[in-house]
Amino acid sequence: MTTEATPLPGTGQPPAAQVRRVTDDLLRRTEHRLRSFLTAERTHRAAVDERAATAVDALSTLVAAGGKRIRPAFCIAGYLAAGGDPHDPGIVAAAAGLEMLHVSALVHDDILDDSGRRRGQPTVHTVFSELHQTRGWQGESRRYGEGVAILVGDLALVYSDELMTQAPPALLTEWHALRSEVLIGQYLDVTAAAEFCVDPQLSRLIALIKSGRYTIHRPLVMGANAAQRPDLAAAFATYGEAVGEAFQLRDDLLDAFGDSAQTGKPTGLDFSQHKMTLLLGWAMQRDEHIRALITEPGHTPEEVRARLLDTGVPHSVEQHIAGLVERGCAALAQAPVAPAWREELTAMAVRADRRTK
Ligand code: IPE
Ligand code: IPE
Ligand code: MG
Ligand code: MG
Ligand code: MG
Repeated sequence: MTTEATPLPGTGQPPAAQVRRVTDDLLRRTEHRLRSFLTAERTHRAAVDERAATAVDALSTLVAAGGKRIRPAFCIAGYLAAGGDPHDPGIVAAAAGLEMLHVSALVHDDILDDSGRRRGQPTVHTVFSELHQTRGWQGESRRYGEGVAILVGDLALVYSDELMTQAPPALLTEWHALRSEVLIGQYLDVTAAAEFCVDPQLSRLIALIKSGRYTIHRPLVMGANAAQRPDLAAAFATYGEAVGEAFQLRDDLLDAFGDSAQTGKPTGLDFSQHKMTLLLGWAMQRDEHIRALITEPGHTPEEVRARLLDTGVPHSVEQHIAGLVERGCAALAQAPVAPAWREELTAMAVRADRRTK
């Protein structure tokens, strides 16, 4: 079993520099794996009919448009912190599979949330709906666009599982838990929006299971399990759940107050979609008028933002996020990983929180 004394792979560099070098190398290989997978798939489909390749192209476009690659990064970090072999291609397949699942979730999320932009580009359903309209095809353009995006998202879901068959089998139990959990989280998210009942505990749970667990907690544990270190699961769960919730609460703040040019997706969408975020739930507890601003027509996002700021709730959410990051990082103190990895995971938690996109 790997313990604190485990030497980090490298050749005489300081531990922090070794951590960065090995991580960056695995992230580069993950990127290559993702793109080569999609290129091979495109060639295969185009041989049947060029139209079939268009569905694959939609995924390649989304992957090439960027994204922070947070899930691969946490999976790789969990693996390396646990002493995993950096040359094992299995961890690259796992990291690529996680990003592919995320892409699937994004394509479907944008249908659910009726969002027009993702990673600075039109969303998949919007692209296909506009294509339908431009070509003057039969049927309803919106229905066609959303139908195609369901298929494109499903395709990414299937690809993610295909990639995961090349990952170390020890991570599969956690992978299966992750896959179903995120769907349940998304179900709760849209249902809480429809019910629109204030329930801060439910809002926190939704942030955790639609986002925090599949983004941070479970990728980290998958990495540790792949390195045969299930003993790290408890500390990684405490860290990952806290930092994962913080990650989503930051996303909610960026939706309300962020800059769409930076996030690459619309702002104010959670208001128009009645999302029962912790931000909105706490604000509605403090100010009854906020419900009407969200549910009655004719109110601008600026009005909602100004009223939210008056409640002081954005500051409370900031404090809650800071507490979560602090608690999460404190859990690392007891984790049997090298100090350089404790520092790296702490830095990753801070980056997940203090982001502007
Ligand atoms: C967006 O995730 C969806 C959420 C779970 C909040 P990211 O903020 O990681 O999006 P990308 O991958 O960087 O585009
Ligand atoms: C999406 O949460 C979670 C998943 C993609 C599973 P959001 O709806 O808040 O994500 P964004 O803000 O659209 O990226
Ligand atoms: Mg969304
Ligand atoms: Mg959503
Ligand atoms: Mg959001």
